[in-house]
Parts: sequence; structure tokens; C-alpha cells
Amino acid sequence: MDLKKYITVVEDWPKPGISFKDITTLMDNGEAYKYATDQIVQYARDKEIDIVVGPEARGFIIGCPVAYSLGVGFAPVRKEGKLPRETVKVDYGLEYGKDVLTIHKDAIKPGQRILITDDLLATGGTILATIQLVEQLGGIVAGIAFLIELSDLGGREKLKNHDILTLMSY
Ligand code: PRP
Ligand code: MG
Repeated sequence: MDLKKYITVVEDWPKPGISFKDITTLMDNGEAYKYATDQIVQYARDKEIDIVVGPEARGFIIGCPVAYSLGVGFAPVRKEGKLPRETVKVDYGLEYGKDVLTIHKDAIKPGQRILITDDLLATGGTILATIQLVEQLGGIVAGIAFLIELSDLGGREKLKNHDILTLMSY
């Protein structure tokens, strides 16, 4: 299946010069969403994954059906102030300014094998922060899967020590 047919490219959104890749037209098509999910499940199948981890919000959309299909749990990475119990946190760089991502301290046990998911690899900042959270808790990042890679933004280079899957490249 040519998944790019289901991505809507919106020019000059959210600001002039940005070519936004809208995944909602993939998600709302049952066949395409299932196909994309199954590709990631197939990639993860032999990695002995204990738990899937994804950053809010779009990482949930990718990671939850994958976790369900693998028969493992899902642990959310969230912006600071959203998780109710003890967390670990990491600062990460955004295009403008900084933000903080957190995960519950008991979400991962040392030695557990983790699949990280997100919709998009751009600069890699979000996923590097997610990797740091997983590793702070003693988790092993066994694989990282994205729907889309923006190949000019250097994200793949930042993740060069990791096993990554991207289903589409722009
Ligand atoms: C977008 C996207 C990725 C991230 C990629 O998330 O969903 O998580 O940016 O960019 P990076 O590789 O440069 O870090 P966004 O922060 O817009 O939030 P959302 O998922 O809640 O929409
Ligand atoms: Mg995101």
C-alpha cells in the first residue's frame, strides 16, 4: 500500500514556509491505519518488546494500536504537570524555546525492552528526550518506529546508534 496517498500535505501551515504533513487522513481510513500499524508490529515482533512508549499527543495514536496488537502495555510520555504520580523528567529543545517531558517513575522496570513510537521524525528532539526518559529508568530502547521522516532535518543522524523504522520519507 502506498501510504503517502493518505497523507495530506498542507503548505504554509502552521506558518509560512512550513509544509505540514497531516496524518489525520491516514488515521481516519481504516485500511491505511491498520496497514501502517501492522508494518510497525511486524518490525517489532521479534524484538521481545515489554512495553511501548510514545510522546503525547501523536505518539499515542501510533503506539497504542501497536501495543494492543503486540499484547503489551503502553506508557505515555507527557508534558510536565500532566502525570499524577512521581515522574522523571527531561528538558528538550523546541524550535522556539524549551519544554519538559515526563514519564511515571514506575512505568518501566530496569532491563525492560522498549519500543518507542511517534508519528514524525523531524529534528529528533522529541525522540531524544523520550530515549533519555526510558534510559533514566533503566529501560533498553530496542526499536523506534515512526510513520514519517523529514529527511532534511537531521533526525536520523541524531538516532544513528538506534534501530529505527520509518514508513515514509519526505
Ligand atoms: C510533533 C510530532 C513529533 C515532533 C517531531 O509533535 O508529533 O512528536 O513534533 O519533531 P522533532 O523531531 O523536531 O522533535 P508536537 O510537538 O507538534 O506535538 P503533538 O504530537 O502533541 O502534536
Ligand atoms: Mg508529537
